[in-house]
Amino acid sequence: MKGSEKPYIILNAAMTIDGKIASKTGDPELSDEDDWKDVHKLRTQVDAIMVGKQTIIKDNPKLHIKYYEHKGYYRVVLDSNLTIPLDSNVIIYKQDVYPTIICTIENIPLEKIKKYESKNIKIIKSGKGKRVDLLKLMPLLFKQGIKSILLEGGGNLNWSFIKNDLIDEIRLTIAPWIVGGKEAISLVEGEGFSKMIESPRFKLSNIINRNNYVILNYKKE
Ligand SMILES: NC(=O)c1ccc[n+]([C@@H]2O[C@H](COP(=O)([O-])OP(=O)(O)OC[C@H]3O[C@@H](n4cnc5c(N)ncnc54)[C@H](OP(=O)(O)O)[C@@H]3O)[C@@H](O)[C@H]2O)c1
Repeated sequence: MKGSEKPYIILNAAMTIDGKIASKTGDPELSDEDDWKDVHKLRTQVDAIMVGKQTIIKDNPKLHIKYYEHKGYYRVVLDSNLTIPLDSNVIIYKQDVYPTIICTIENIPLEKIKKYESKNIKIIKSGKGKRVDLLKLMPLLFKQGIKSILLEGGGNLNWSFIKNDLIDEIRLTIAPWIVGGKEAISLVEGEGFSKMIESPRFKLSNIINRNNYVILNYKKE
């Protein structure tokens, strides 16, 4: 991203020992309460939480903070064709504290945009392709005042960030079980790189061993 400023991106996820972030039926219950507290603490330190459309459709998260006092942040959803239900929690829950931005593509019909804008949702358009163009989106979010983002998945959105080498830091919780299943979503989905040498490298910066969970922190090399 030479010549333009981008938010600092922290990828955060909880996965099983075998790298799954949900079971084959979409069960996402991986974290224990201590882990949730850590994640909510991290949320207090960023300007925005970002997720992909399928995470909204499958989990309907509020993306809020339960355990701490805080001033709020943006919730950013990537939904190229504006399809998430209008009664999703990111739309109906506490817009005054966690204003929601939906990122979409440039040739989206105006009538669709109006439906979301009437619910006080801000729409940002990025790219003329089939999916939101992340490289164009980053400086747009930066201009909006979003200098740091906690990327909270899912696997397909994580891949787009990895492919475009946009991740600055990773915080990963490993839950001590194995769920298996080739249909279960992994930490990173997508087509993947052909060779190890093509993949972005990270440096291990911290390890915590707590309640049989392992929390790993990595920084971009
Ligand atoms: N354990 C954890 O930490 C954790 C965290 C989050 C989610 N999850 C789990 O992950 C699962 C959802 O993951 P998922 O991989 O199915 O979906 P996802 O990554 O949440 O969403 C993917 C969707 O985002 C949209 N999108 C827009 N622009 C994109 C871009 N540039 N690159 C990639 N996607 C883009 C695409 O839909 P359009 O083409 O229609 O825009 C795409 O299908 C759920 O089961 C959830 O429980 C687990």
